[in-house]
Amino acid sequence: MRIYLDHNATTRVDPAAADAMLRALQHLFGNASSVHYYGQQAKAAIDDARSGVAALLGAEPAEIIFTSGGTEADNFAIRGAAEALEPAGRRHLITSGIEHEAVLNTFKALAKRGWRTTVLPLDQTGVLSPDRLREAMADDTALVSIMHANNEIGTIQPIAELAKIAQARGALFHTDAVQSAGKIPVNVRTLGVDLLSVSAHKFYGPKGIGALWAKRGVRLSPFLSGGK
Ligand SMILES: Cc1ncc(COP(=O)(O)O)c(C=O)c1O
Repeated sequence: MRIYLDHNATTRVDPAAADAMLRALQHLFGNASSVHYYGQQAKAAIDDARSGVAALLGAEPAEIIFTSGGTEADNFAIRGAAEALEPAGRRHLITSGIEHEAVLNTFKALAKRGWRTTVLPLDQTGVLSPDRLREAMADDTALVSIMHANNEIGTIQPIAELAKIAQARGALFHTDAVQSAGKIPVNVRTLGVDLLSVSAHKFYGPKGIGALWAKRGVRLSPFLSGGK
């Protein structure tokens, strides 16, 4: 008998999620932008899914942006915020050494393109001290990205406190909640963040879908161009 003990890497798909996907693949083929019955039927299914994700996070449905997973949500939050705030003269970005590669490698890519980046060290227990973040903040800090729960050692960062420090200096705060959503309470209003990433396959959804929550009013540069 084999026992699977790697649920932080990925989970199996819940039968209810598999059933919903099968139904959509077989029956909801309409273009959700079409005004006819088939389009509106597909749109209703998307709206329903959007409301479900919003309810999980204590958010409004209009604030949910579907992505291909946690990696895309992290990339979109960081690159989108960095590019949107650059014209205002904000070219500094802060993260921590404990982040997933989806965040760390995005920071490296932006550093190569001229952004100033700071990667903060953690204390002996794997937690980022709020004082360390306070000292690192600059007048031109655009975004701070600190993960909620870590994928290797499980530490949970004091996100609400860290977010307040960033926002007090006019910066946006992003958290990668890929490992916490579905496992511990994740409420965007309680956490007080501006941007939050989740990924379905970490909590019994399929691979290939995730979401970025962006607080109403937060502007991100799109990295894909297309219809609305
Ligand atoms: C903390 C964290 N962020 C981001 C990701 C990437 O998510 P995805 O596999 O959906 O791209 C993972 C997955 O391992 C993760 O653990």
